Amino acid sequence: MRAALLIVLGLVIGIIGTVFTMRALSERNPFPEALMVTMGFHRHQLQQAVKGQRCEAAANLDQLQHMQMIAADIPAVFPDAPQPFNEIATHLRSALQSATQAAPADCPALAAALKPVDEACHQCHQQFR
Ligand code: HEC
Repeated sequence: MRAALLIVLGLVIGIIGTVFTMRALSERNPFPEALMVTMGFHRHQLQQAVKGQRCEAAANLDQLQHMQMIAADIPAVFPDAPQPFNEIATHLRSALQSATQAAPADCPALAAALKPVDEACHQCHQQFR
């Protein structure tokens, strides 16, 4: 009788534990991934422009400005990030600021403006992703 009760108790505790774990997993903060997916979207748009040799100044600027605004959100979306992470995020912001100011009007100019931007992406992904 006592053994049966202990088994039931063990099962109940196990089920409660599983429910809590599942909840914790599904509540994983979605913001960091959402921000990066959106950043990746705009980077991909520019990639397509270069690939198709259709690098129009206004469209380039529009995508770069989106990326700049998204990069400005990195500190708020990754609030507990270590110092080196924040430094790379700062590099990314200044690279995007330069790229926006350069206002690339053709594909070679766009590719050149994106180089330091991509370096910041890769540097952070290598260390923190
Ligand atoms: C300061 C650090 C940092 C910088 C700079 C950075 N990323 Fe990320 N990126 C991350 C981290 C951390 C993840 C993993 C996020 C997660 O899944 O929670 C990530 C994930 C991603 C993903 C995968 C998202 C997914 O899960 O599907 C893409 C795409 C991406 N980044 C694009 C970019 C692009 C493009 C740039 C540059 C314009 C960039 N990132 C710059 C830190 C960074």
